[in-house]
Amino acid sequence: MALRNIVVEGDEILRKKCREITDVNDRIRQTLDDMVETMHEAMGVGLAAPQVGIMRRMFVAEPEPGGTIYYFINPEITMREGSVEGEEGCLSVPGFAGLVDRPQKITIKGLDRNGEPQEFTFEDFEARVMCHEYDHLDGILYKDRAKEMYDLSEQYEEE
Ligand code: NI
Repeated sequence: MALRNIVVEGDEILRKKCREITDVNDRIRQTLDDMVETMHEAMGVGLAAPQVGIMRRMFVAEPEPGGTIYYFINPEITMREGSVEGEEGCLSVPGFAGLVDRPQKITIKGLDRNGEPQEFTFEDFEARVMCHEYDHLDGILYKDRAKEMYDLSEQYEEE
């Protein structure tokens, strides 16, 4: 496994729509493993392929540190229900947090790391993480949806 560089806001790669993956092969799995390692190193709860410069529709997520690691290839959100406000950050938007409305509950399907179909229903924080990562695949950053943004460095200076 290897650490990848995380692309930060300002790089146009984060604004592009990613392409579907047609073949779930060892190279894809290697990339997913690298993404997990990179996510852990950065202490994130999710990481999408464009954040490491790869324009493909896949992401990894670990909503609870040390808990289940989810791998999603060609994901599709097939059900959205309710709306909950919550705080989000992004490894590609360092130093900021924001308040975003997300569905309370979603169903998301796609392929797992072996290319097998999978479907999950997530609620609350897990649903938020999946929606956030899914957005990355369409070039959307959470700040596009944020009702309020906080500059964390300013907050620290004031304290
Ligand atoms: Ni993000």
